[in-house]
Amino acid sequence: MKPPLKALLEGFGLVVGGLGTFCCYEIYTENQKFYANCFMPLIHKVLDAETAHKAAVKALAWNLLPGRKHHDDPSLRQVIWNKEFQNPVGIAAGFDKDAEAMVGLSNMGFGFIEVGSVTPLPQIGNPKPRVFRLYEDKAVINRYGFNSCGQEAAKHRLNKFDQHQCRGNIVLGVNLGKNKTSTDDVADYITGVRQLGKYADYIVINVSSPNTAGLRNLQQKKRLETLCKAILQERDKLVNKPPVLVKIAPDLSDDDKQDIAKVVLECNVEGLIVSNTTVRRPESLRSVHKKEVGGLSGLPVRDVSTKLISEMYQLTEGKVPIIGVGGISNGTEAYEKIKAGASLVQIYTALVYGGPPVLTNMKKDLVEHLHKDGYENISQAIGAVHQ
Ligand SMILES: Cc1cc2nc3c(=O)[nH]c(=O)nc-3n(C[C@H](O)[C@H](O)[C@H](O)COP(=O)(O)O)c2cc1C
Repeated sequence: MKPPLKALLEGFGLVVGGLGTFCCYEIYTENQKFYANCFMPLIHKVLDAETAHKAAVKALAWNLLPGRKHHDDPSLRQVIWNKEFQNPVGIAAGFDKDAEAMVGLSNMGFGFIEVGSVTPLPQIGNPKPRVFRLYEDKAVINRYGFNSCGQEAAKHRLNKFDQHQCRGNIVLGVNLGKNKTSTDDVADYITGVRQLGKYADYIVINVSSPNTAGLRNLQQKKRLETLCKAILQERDKLVNKPPVLVKIAPDLSDDDKQDIAKVVLECNVEGLIVSNTTVRRPESLRSVHKKEVGGLSGLPVRDVSTKLISEMYQLTEGKVPIIGVGGISNGTEAYEKIKAGASLVQIYTALVYGGPPVLTNMKKDLVEHLHKDGYENISQAIGAVHQ
């Protein structure tokens, strides 16, 4: 007979070991339920929203997360702006603000990555706390205020990513912002193009973050026109000439939408990202954090953003590729945005609640939707509701 304490310890060791093995297996095999109901809630219990965000970026930077296990279905592949996208799902701006986690994000299975927003000079952003999870609403409110390592540091990382050929076939977008204390908005974006444009497969002019005073006024017709013309002129000096996209807010009047569409068509802006976070607070919000100042993302912006995609697709006569973003958490929601007029989609908040399986399952579901509707390729479904 073993002494009772030893037997107890052995039994305890077996249980802990078994539990550890079980968790590793569930994480490695990307069990969606395990992530949504156990792993992510556990992370949320022990880490506040910003610390969890930082930890996720570091985990990806060190390539600690399980990588892509299979190739994307050929029906998800398409060529836009002369770039080949292996699948239409990208990581939205704001996750990898400082271009640290590109290799990990690429291995995770995204079809494209957007880093930034990067500001010309480094800045620390707003005081903490500045990110809040709204569990009951499957949403997040953030008021980061463009915390950024600055263009110089981002350039160094992008250069390294390029040179070490870790880039593979991933499409890389660089999202540009402006410094809080800058007195010349146009100059801030111009230096972004000059410094980082050569590493970018596409450039994003972010004029829609709600956390930098006055930024969203750059969406006004005259100001947007001046900004776009200056940026496109600077872009034309680059050898790679990356397409320029404008990222817009979901809180626009009908006149704003028409004006933006006009500027985009007249200036030959190559794409739109629809949409950023909203400053609106729908009645439906239940979380204690609903009154926090900042941009709301996730489920509450899903339908607003899909409607705006639809409107912008029609206003730009389907001539300008749109990246649809806002509240997408599964393949059906991604497909809705594509049918509304998006050529590509991005996700962010859904990852906070569901982790990496969200992406894997989204791609799988998208393929099923395409087959069900008789499409051979995702490009055939773009704007389908308007046909
Ligand atoms: C914490 C956080 C930070 C963000 N930072 C940026 C940013 O720096 N630049 C930007 O263009 N969008 C930023 N966004 C907006 C997202 O890119 C995206 O447009 C928005 O969250 C809607 O998508 P989602 O509902 O899938 O999160 C941020 C979003 C979140 C949640």
